[in-house]
Amino acid sequence: MTIQTVAVLGGTGAEGSGLALRWAAAGWPIVIGSRVAERAAQAADALRARLGPATVISGRANPDAAAASRLVVLTVPFAAQADTLKSVRDALQPGSILVDCTVPLAAAVGGRATRVLGVPQGSAAQQAQEMVGREVKVVSAFHHVGAEALAALDAPLDTDVLVAGDDRAARETVRALVEAIPGARYVDAGPLENARIVESITALLVGINIRYKVHASGLRFTGLDRRE
Ligand SMILES: NC(=O)c1ccc[n+]([C@@H]2O[C@H](COP(=O)([O-])OP(=O)(O)OC[C@H]3O[C@@H](n4cnc5c(N)ncnc54)[C@H](OP(=O)(O)O)[C@@H]3O)[C@@H](O)[C@H]2O)c1
Repeated sequence: MTIQTVAVLGGTGAEGSGLALRWAAAGWPIVIGSRVAERAAQAADALRARLGPATVISGRANPDAAAASRLVVLTVPFAAQADTLKSVRDALQPGSILVDCTVPLAAAVGGRATRVLGVPQGSAAQQAQEMVGREVKVVSAFHHVGAEALAALDAPLDTDVLVAGDDRAARETVRALVEAIPGARYVDAGPLENARIVESITALLVGINIRYKVHASGLRFTGLDRRE
């Protein structure tokens, strides 16, 4: 596994800061991105305060964060996905990986969080791929890992992480990010067109959380080699 700097766009928010926390705890250098550099710096300071002064973490405006890494993670609401990508696409390095965590929940347009929106490209991740061009490899992942579970640093997760993308090597790179989080198991979900299915399962989990009065229901596939 090669550890490299991870840029987390929208890393000031619930999901992005939770992922950054877990990766920083595992020793990955992190750059938090935000629309406002100061907010990113504050979020980075908060994570360093939690993990200790040796933590390698900084905060920058989203385009600067995107330019700083070849492994960029997008954690903004669906309503903000297109604007965020427009703001960073010129900064993304050719050959870099964009990990898209966006779920197109109907809540983005005032609907229910238990329903997904239809995205013309097929999924939020495919929309992202169309926007950034083929020079950037989009990988869809982490949709079933809740922010609350990520923030509870002392508790391992209990979920599989479905990873979809058209570039096999890029999926393997994201495997390392999954395996950096205790209790998360990588599951190869195949090509990016499967992101449509992966994203929609989140709406199902939101409904399950509501019905079972829990906050972090997850997903486990049976019949796979546990070493995977
Ligand atoms: N929360 C979860 O448990 C969870 C689980 C799985 C997947 N996800 C997905 O992860 C993504 C982020 O979720 P979240 O709960 O972390 O969202 P969030 O906290 O509401 O927002 C994350 C960040 O996105 C930026 N942002 C918010 N509204 C924006 C807007 N209108 N325009 C531009 N930027 C905006 C903000 O950063 P700045 O203001 O600093 O720019 C914010 O801190 C979503 O697509 C969600 O579906 C979330």
